Amino acid sequence: MESIKAPRGTRDILGDESWKWARVLEVSRGVAADFGYREVMLPIFEHTELFSRGIGDTTDVVEKEMYTFTDKGGRSITLRPELTASMMRSYLEHDMNRAAQPAKLWSWGPMFRYERPQKGRYRQFSQIDFETLGSPSPLADVETIDASMELFRRLGLSNLQVLINSVGCPECRPVYRETLKKFFSDRINDLCETCQGRFERNPLRILDCKKPGCRDLTGLAPSVTDSLCGECGAHFDAVTSGLSRIGVSVSVDNRLVRGLDYYTKTAYEILAGELGSQNAVCGGGRYDNLAEAIGGPHVPGVGFASGIDRIIITMEGQGACVGDEPKTDIFVIAAAPDAEIDAAALAHELRASGLSADMDFMGRSLKARMKQASQCGALYACIIGPDEKSSGSVAIKDMRSGEQETLPMSSAAARLSLAIGERAR
Ligand code: HAM
Repeated sequence: MESIKAPRGTRDILGDESWKWARVLEVSRGVAADFGYREVMLPIFEHTELFSRGIGDTTDVVEKEMYTFTDKGGRSITLRPELTASMMRSYLEHDMNRAAQPAKLWSWGPMFRYERPQKGRYRQFSQIDFETLGSPSPLADVETIDASMELFRRLGLSNLQVLINSVGCPECRPVYRETLKKFFSDRINDLCETCQGRFERNPLRILDCKKPGCRDLTGLAPSVTDSLCGECGAHFDAVTSGLSRIGVSVSVDNRLVRGLDYYTKTAYEILAGELGSQNAVCGGGRYDNLAEAIGGPHVPGVGFASGIDRIIITMEGQGACVGDEPKTDIFVIAAAPDAEIDAAALAHELRASGLSADMDFMGRSLKARMKQASQCGALYACIIGPDEKSSGSVAIKDMRSGEQETLPMSSAAARLSLAIGERAR
C-alpha cells in the first residue's frame, strides 16, 4: 500500500523551522504591544457568505480559491482565506464600535487558498494580521504601514520595497473603471485570455497582470491618481507625506490594485527580492466599505497581513539573524544500569530549578550518550557512573572546555544554575 503524504500545497513545519516561527510570533507580539494592538483569536471557518460578500464575488479568492463545503447541518462553510473579513465580523458581533475608537486588533494563524503551489505559495499558509477598525484618519494608514515596517526591521529584514497606491472610493472608482475600459477597448486583442475575461467584470485587475504583453499595455494606461475625487486625493497625499515625515520610503505604483475587492483609498504591498515570483511579503490597505458589505454600519478600517512562511524564506535568503535555535542546557547520563532512575530524578530537579535538561532512555551506550549530549548543544553533561552512584555524587563535564568535577548530587542543581547564569551574562 502506498504511504499517505501531506496534501499538495501543505507542509509540515518541523523542529528545525518551528523555532523560527516562535521567534517571528514573539517579535510580532512585541510590535503589537508597542503599537497598542490587542490579540484576538478567531474561528478557522466562517459562513461562506462572509467572504463572498466581504472579499467580493468576482475576485480570484472567492471565485476559484476557497475551500468551501456543506456541513452536516446543511450550512455553507469556508475555511478562512484571510482574516480581515473575520476581524470586521468579530468587531461588529461584539459591538466594539460602541467602545472608544479605533479598535486595534491583531491575530495570526493558518489560512487556506486553493492556489497553484510554488515557492512561497501554499494552499495552507499562515498570516500575521493587524487591523485598525473605526478610524478614517490617514494617520491610521501611516501607522499601519509603520507597524509592518517595524515588524520587518525587528526581524532583521532589509532591502524591502514598499509600493503604495490609492484605489479610490465608490465615487471615483467607477469613473476610473470607465476610463480604463475605454483605454483597453481598442486593445482588447492584445490582452491575455484572463485579462480579456477581466475586461467586463473587473477591469482594474488587468493592471495587476504580470504577463509581459499585458504589462506593456498597462504601463501606458491612464493613472488612477488622475481620477481620484478630492477626498481620496487628499487622503493619499496625507498618507504619503506622513510616511515621508517618519522616514518610511515608499514608491507610488499606480498599477497596484490588490486582489481583494474591499479596498478603498490606500493599497500597499511590501516586496522582497528573495521570494522570486511570489514576492509580496506583506499586503494591506484601507477598506472603508467592508463593514457595510457584510451587513453592518459604516466602519472605516485599515490593516495589513504578512505571510509567515514568506517572512521566513526572506529571513533565510537574507541571512537575517533572529538568534539561534534554543539548546538544551544539560544532558544527564546514567553510566551504570542502576543509575537510570537517579539520572531521571536529577533531570527532574534541574528542570524544576529553571534549567533545560534532557536524557536518553533508549538504553544507549555511554559513548552514544556523550555524542547525544554534544549533538543537542548541551553546555554540561551530568554523568552518574558506579562510583557516583555509590557516593551520591555526580560528575559534571563542561562540554566546551572538557573540564570535569565531581559534586554531591544535592548541590548539582544550584551549582549548574549559577554556572549557566554566569555564562548568559
Ligand atoms: P493578501 O495580499 O491576499 O492580503 O495576503 C497577505 C500576505 O499573505 C501576502 O503578502 C503573502 O505574504 C501572504 N500570502 C497570501 N497568499 C499566500 C499563499 N498562498 N501562500 C503563502 N503566503 C501567502 C490579505 O490577505 C488581506 N487580508 C490583507 C489585509 C489586512 N488588508 C487589510 N488588512
